[in-house]
Amino acid sequence: MPTDNENTINAPSETGPSDPSRRTLLAGSAGLGLAAAVPAATAAAQSAESPSREFAGRSAFVTGGARGIGYATAEALARAGADIMLYDVAGQIEHVKYPLATPEDLATAKANIEALGVKCIAVQGDVRDGPKQKAAMQEAAATFGSVDFVVANAGITQVGPLDIFSEAEIDVVLDVNLAGAMKTLQAAIPIMRAQNAGRIVLMSSITGRRGSEFFPVYSASKWGMIGLAKSTARLLAKSNVTCNAVCPSLVRTRLLDNDYILGTMIPDNPTIEAADAGAKQLHVMPVGLYGPEHVANTVKFICSDAAAYISGDVFDIAAGRNTEFPA
Ligand SMILES: NC(=O)c1ccc[n+]([C@@H]2O[C@H](COP(=O)([O-])OP(=O)(O)OC[C@H]3O[C@@H](n4cnc5c(N)ncnc54)[C@H](O)[C@@H]3O)[C@@H](O)[C@H]2O)c1
Repeated sequence: MPTDNENTINAPSETGPSDPSRRTLLAGSAGLGLAAAVPAATAAAQSAESPSREFAGRSAFVTGGARGIGYATAEALARAGADIMLYDVAGQIEHVKYPLATPEDLATAKANIEALGVKCIAVQGDVRDGPKQKAAMQEAAATFGSVDFVVANAGITQVGPLDIFSEAEIDVVLDVNLAGAMKTLQAAIPIMRAQNAGRIVLMSSITGRRGSEFFPVYSASKWGMIGLAKSTARLLAKSNVTCNAVCPSLVRTRLLDNDYILGTMIPDNPTIEAADAGAKQLHVMPVGLYGPEHVANTVKFICSDAAAYISGDVFDIAAGRNTEFPA
């Protein structure tokens, strides 16, 4: 099975998959001449794992996992026992006006996940690079024995009315947020089909549920994620794979907490406190910017056995702001 170690941050641990059902999957998946094997979700559901380690023996591939919502999601899944591959660009992308994660962020994320007692592989890669992402996911399948959960979370943003953006600035947001997620799905599809099981979560946004004058390209990319989730849910339904979209509102991460975003959105008072006050006005419930663990907990639920037949759905995490959306 092809591997892509060129930008792998540290070597994965040398011990093999601990769960026998996943060894079966691995044996059936060599070289992607994938034979249908025991569905990982079914196998794990039949085991007597304690609820707190409900994902023991399973694994997750998380894009944009070096920090923010992606890291929080990886941590929540790891706390429940899942092995993790973090796939993050961990470097700057041209036309993105705020700092993305660094290689140090990615290495720290990997160390923190490993400290939870699971395996973690960190790959420095761009979701726009389809072949690299595919090789990374195949490496995850080969190392962990399966890829049970895929979280297409990597994303970037920009602020301003549509007419101010150059072609390159439009392209980069669509390429990362939407086409990048499509490439994540293309990597996942053959693996999950062969497993006859899997959960896919696409990170959309409430700007994918309502128009946004000042986030036009970002909003379009996030509306696209919902169409992509529903289309993929149909495509993979017969393989027992679910696909859902998650729509956070305003989360306390570096995507918002940076000079470019704060300075453009709130030029009179470009502080995180002012952003928090703005978020309190936007939310119906009495909360401002909330922590990424709230998004992570929703993703964890979608990956759980309790959500086995929830597919093609959209989960708003918007502290009531979503009450204005049509059903
Ligand atoms: N923070 C919010 O308020 C909010 C709200 C709704 C939706 N979201 C979405 O949640 C997701 C995560 O956002 P966040 O708030 O954690 O932001 P963040 O900037 O803290 O994290 C994004 C991560 O994605 C990585 N990344 C960016 N481009 C990449 C690429 N081309 N390939 C691989 N990795 C890449 C970055 O390095 C970073 O680690 C994004 O899709 C974002 O649009 C965020």
